[in-house]
Amino acid sequence: MTLPDGLPWDSALVTGASSGIGEAVARLLGGHGVGHLVLVARRADRLGRLAAELGRAHGTEVEVLAADLADGSELARVEQRLADSDRPVDLLVNNAGLGTSGAFATLPSDGEEHEILVNVVALVRLTRAVLPGQIDRERGAVLNVSSMASYQPSPGNATYGASKAFVTSFSEAVHEEVRGSGVTVTALCPGYTRTEFQGATGGSQDRVPGFAWTSAESVAEAGLAGAAAGRALVVPGLGYKLIAGVTTPLPRSAKRWIMGRAAGTLSDRGRLSGVNRTRWR
Ligand SMILES: NC(=O)c1ccc[n+]([C@@H]2O[C@H](COP(=O)([O-])OP(=O)(O)OC[C@H]3O[C@@H](n4cnc5c(N)ncnc54)[C@H](OP(=O)(O)O)[C@@H]3O)[C@@H](O)[C@H]2O)c1
Repeated sequence: MTLPDGLPWDSALVTGASSGIGEAVARLLGGHGVGHLVLVARRADRLGRLAAELGRAHGTEVEVLAADLADGSELARVEQRLADSDRPVDLLVNNAGLGTSGAFATLPSDGEEHEILVNVVALVRLTRAVLPGQIDRERGAVLNVSSMASYQPSPGNATYGASKAFVTSFSEAVHEEVRGSGVTVTALCPGYTRTEFQGATGGSQDRVPGFAWTSAESVAEAGLAGAAAGRALVVPGLGYKLIAGVTTPLPRSAKRWIMGRAAGTLSDRGRLSGVNRTRWR
């Protein structure tokens, strides 16, 4: 699916626009004539540089809204911006996210909670903040960045996989709730994508074969094209579409076993020893 030249939005707010998929989304929106962008992340310097670049290249008006989405009062500022009926936001891209990695029982609880606050709580609150105005205006879209990890449990990234399962299920449910309102909600489920995420997660990227990787630009393009078409679910890339098609009908016990073995193979020996002992049951 390719991105149409004319996108159906005049304005957009993108979280996690300081790198990776969110930055690619912001660049595509600016390049396709979306005239007003609100860019959200913690690294205001990066957002400022991107804002200046998009202004110079396309004349895009860009607001930089620096916020830590795990912080309740900073999140509230983003909610207020989304609910401001004088400055309507046509497209919300809930992209900010992070992943922790390792055997769950060994990971600090604070880090797991932080992951849920950004990946789940912020996404729910921001979606809730934008939808009423969009529904009143009978115009708008929400693009929630989920993951292929949402299709099955993820031993070695248990909280991450669960947070993304939430995002996909939540997005599909609200997609149905707003059907016919002029507003759409889309879950974007990328596979391995080359961004700063992999380094930050401390995961097993070195052992992921080259063909499995997609680019942030192609993921962003597929997501925006899917949102513009009002799709409920977008899986970027033929390979990942095939994997989603093949694995979806498998019994849950089979998916658990496969993912447990894969996590054992991909992880550092011993670090995920609990995962390595996973049995198909
Ligand atoms: N890369 C992959 O393989 C992959 C695969 C499937 C799904 N995804 C999903 O894609 C999304 C984007 O990830 P990415 O791959 O582009 O990674 P990335 O390059 O690390 O970007 C993550 C973005 O989230 C922002 N962010 C993280 N914590 C935040 C917080 N507390 N408050 C505000 N912003 C925060 C970061 O900005 P600051 O650090 O400046 O705050 C950054 O802009 C995530 O939801 C991720 O789960 C990634």
